Amino acid sequence: MMGRRGMWIDTDLGFDDIAAIAMVLASPDHQIAGVGLVAGNAPLDQVIRNAFGSSALFGWALDWHAGATAPLREKLVTADYVLGETGIRTAGRSLPVATGKLASGDAVAAMQEWLSTLPEGSGDILALGPLTNIAQLVSAGRFLDRIGRIVLMGGSTDRGNHTAAAEFNIAVDPEAADIVFSAGLRTEMVGLNACREVPVIADDVHWMRGFSGIAAQTMADMLEGYLSIRSADLSRPMPLFDPLAAAALVAPELVTLAPARVDVELEGRLTRGMTVCELRVPQRADANARVAVGADSDGVRRLLRAALQLAVSG
Ligand code: RIB
Ligand code: CA
Repeated sequence: MMGRRGMWIDTDLGFDDIAAIAMVLASPDHQIAGVGLVAGNAPLDQVIRNAFGSSALFGWALDWHAGATAPLREKLVTADYVLGETGIRTAGRSLPVATGKLASGDAVAAMQEWLSTLPEGSGDILALGPLTNIAQLVSAGRFLDRIGRIVLMGGSTDRGNHTAAAEFNIAVDPEAADIVFSAGLRTEMVGLNACREVPVIADDVHWMRGFSGIAAQTMADMLEGYLSIRSADLSRPMPLFDPLAAAALVAPELVTLAPARVDVELEGRLTRGMTVCELRVPQRADANARVAVGADSDGVRRLLRAALQLAVSG
């Protein structure tokens, strides 16, 4: 589409990933060139099923490319202990079981092929899961000059969620995250510290239930399932993770970024996967990224609701 900036999404396709993809699809200025799939919220075969189910339920015509089944070094750890075996917690309905066809079985090669068609610095990547595919792209070294922004949901300037120190996407594959942050690319980290400023609340579920149709009711059930991660009675707000990264990419005015030196802890017995963020740059270190330090919560929530309404409107 003329005028729309092509971009790439890499995802482990949980519910917040679905919401983030909906936000990019709703952007008048962006076009999704392809979507790489990575194991994270669930094993890769389940992530692929979630991709086909999303396309079937929301009518999304996306090119899904299978990527890494496991992190670079350690065994895969999924979020099944919180999200269940599908990687998407629900209060009722789940994504439909749908057949589909992968655009390819090699997400890294597909990203390289896409980048090869682009001018320098013009290919933005939104990473919503463990960074295994992105690290393999960086390590291969082909067409990296075509990459514009890498906007990733991951890490935190303070505490973690998967462990006290580490956020899930980074904790699953710390070696991959270390490669990405060390690559000298224009990397923007949207971490838990900023996500906590932009919540989902029970009224959002009530609002989505007001729409008719199976897509809306399934979205409402998955939204309620997501909210229930924080409190079974839905009384406590649940931070929005991937949608805030999507907002940083499609509406950067809504997310405040600060330059920082981000190092990934690889050895710590208690801190492996922690993103150690030094914000006192350049006095104490040279910046290698920009990290989210604030967000316009009302603005992001408005963007999210508009995107979810579009996704379920058929
Ligand atoms: O820690 C939150 C992140 O881990 C989100 O991207 C969620 O989808 C999971 O991948
Ligand atoms: Ca995710």
